[in-house]
Amino acid sequence: MRKNIIAGNWKMNKTFDEASELSRLIARDYADCTSVDIVLCPSFTSIKAVSDIVSETQIQIGAQNFSHEDDGAFTGEISYTMLKDLFVKYVILGHSERREFFGETDDLINKKLIKALDKNLKPIVCVGESLNERENGVTKDIIKNQIDSCLLNIPSEKFSEIIIAYEPVWAIGTGKTATAEQAQDVHSFIRQRINDQFGSDAANIVRIQYGGSMKASNAKELLTQPDIDGGLIGGASLDAQSFGEIVKIAIG
Ligand code: PGA
Repeated sequence: MRKNIIAGNWKMNKTFDEASELSRLIARDYADCTSVDIVLCPSFTSIKAVSDIVSETQIQIGAQNFSHEDDGAFTGEISYTMLKDLFVKYVILGHSERREFFGETDDLINKKLIKALDKNLKPIVCVGESLNERENGVTKDIIKNQIDSCLLNIPSEKFSEIIIAYEPVWAIGTGKTATAEQAQDVHSFIRQRINDQFGSDAANIVRIQYGGSMKASNAKELLTQPDIDGGLIGGASLDAQSFGEIVKIAIG
């Protein structure tokens, strides 16, 4: 049985004080939650504050990105040591906004994934097709390429540490959610591809989150699909009550 993982991707939102307040409210209600993994991904400037607030709880911290380099002259970048220093356990890799606006490629995401695994950060690897690609009927070709390239050279035994997030780009921040059937169809395709490439143990253990306008009103039908193991939540994670409602549904 795979444990659901609900992660809040706060993106470029929340000041230090706002992030502190939001994490305090979530910690108040879900500090002891062990039946679902709860991960908060604040902006870098709020990680220390949020990390301190949840330090005595079951809630974990994720970063929204990091560098595959260890240290040195890389202006504006953040290294794994900086994250680990603040007790960060997860890192989102290859979010479609990083791919679209900051030119991140599958090759770079693969480098970051290898570094994350090497340094014991749990990667949340994002994949997903654009609206154009879906309408042209190439969704599975796109997903297959992203999975194959991003996961290149990853040892099968690492899949217990890896989380894949299927996020159809057309559903992110648009209010349009993939139907539960559309999402399940791609999730089971991803699991099958991992089975073919890395074996059945890897495929059975890897957790695959859905992301893209997940909210309390659609979380139940998505989270009850056999191959959906949680959610990567953007907009609805910015409010403690709506995020809490999704966590509650994931707990079941
Ligand atoms: P959304 O974002 O929930 O606002 O659609 C999800 C994400 O981009 O991770």
